Amino acid sequence: MSEREPGSHAISGRIYARIAGTGSYLPDKLLTNDDLAKQVDTSDEWIRSRTGIRQRHIAAEGQTTGDLGYEAALKAMEAAGVSAADLDMIVVGTTTPDLIFPSTACLIQARLGANGCAAMDVNAACSGFVYALSVADKFIRCGDARTVLVIGAETLSRIVDWTERTTCVLFGDGAGAVVLKADSETGILSTHLHADGGKKELLWNPVGVSVGFQADQPNGGARIKMKGNDVFKYAVKALDSVVDETLEANGLTQQDLDWLIPHQANLRIIEATAKRLGMPMERVVVTVDRHGNTSAASVPLALDEAVRSGRVQRGQLLLFEAFGGGFTWGSALLRY
Ligand code: COA
Repeated sequence: MSEREPGSHAISGRIYARIAGTGSYLPDKLLTNDDLAKQVDTSDEWIRSRTGIRQRHIAAEGQTTGDLGYEAALKAMEAAGVSAADLDMIVVGTTTPDLIFPSTACLIQARLGANGCAAMDVNAACSGFVYALSVADKFIRCGDARTVLVIGAETLSRIVDWTERTTCVLFGDGAGAVVLKADSETGILSTHLHADGGKKELLWNPVGVSVGFQADQPNGGARIKMKGNDVFKYAVKALDSVVDETLEANGLTQQDLDWLIPHQANLRIIEATAKRLGMPMERVVVTVDRHGNTSAASVPLALDEAVRSGRVQRGQLLLFEAFGGGFTWGSALLRY
């Protein structure tokens, strides 16, 4: 924890983690479906009808996950009115860290000048932000931290096989962040996390430091491999079940929800979850059309966009959900 004593302004009664500010950042470079159709055998029509994606942002050469996360963090901290010295902890959800170590959280911490607070990465693929938020929530609830910066940031473009049309059309780069603060007012009500490592080969990157790289392959063999159809079916089922679990655990029904802010993997998966919940699409935040699947960055990016456009208002009940490689999946229910 930071040198500031977290318990020094103790809140009497129950402590909640509340979102005090949000921020996001997208790299400038846009890659449209038509651009992709010049590289692989695909079309704007195919991509739009199967995924809802029109375009995605791609990090510039040399621009890292940490760079994107840092920009998102600055905006979230400004919105929350907190400075680097206020931070007790930084948690970054990412599958594409700048380095093996130090963690991307440590790299961002140093740039922010928040040295001394705790900092760590959480790798849960596309569920990374929901996982990171859950970790931060626990630290705040138990009183060990009062102000936590939670970031979801990715440069998935670095592990996309740009010759493989079944995957390269799906992913994009970006970052989103929130500042959580301890508060006696209701904030995060619950988080539910799950994983099924038995399904690892349906969505994965087959190489790594300990397993080894493939010297004869571009990028050492690092690439996203996916059985899209199987992932689709499993994701819809897992998301349905975690949404039910969340509502039941809180004694709520779908009518109580103001907004569904889902992981942005595929518009058809989002629509299936919304339909199951009986939520009209006007109450679902959708960015997948413009961002593609930005993995751990997608939920905080969508949240920030909805907050800054004035759609998400203070006091509203929000449901975040995500699904990703691992498999991992989870939810967070919160009063904004
Ligand atoms: N452009 C044109 N054709 C393509 C294509 C592309 N980019 N990608 C695949 N195809 C072809 C396939 O080769 C196949 O051709 P065939 O019938 O001649 O064999 C055909 O389109 C259908 O492929 P299929 O994989 O069955 O399509 P689909 O309807 O399942 O859609 C996904 C593919 C990937 C869009 C879909 O399965 C999906 O979204 N899955 C979930 C993926 C996901 O969200 N992953 C991240 C989770 S965090």
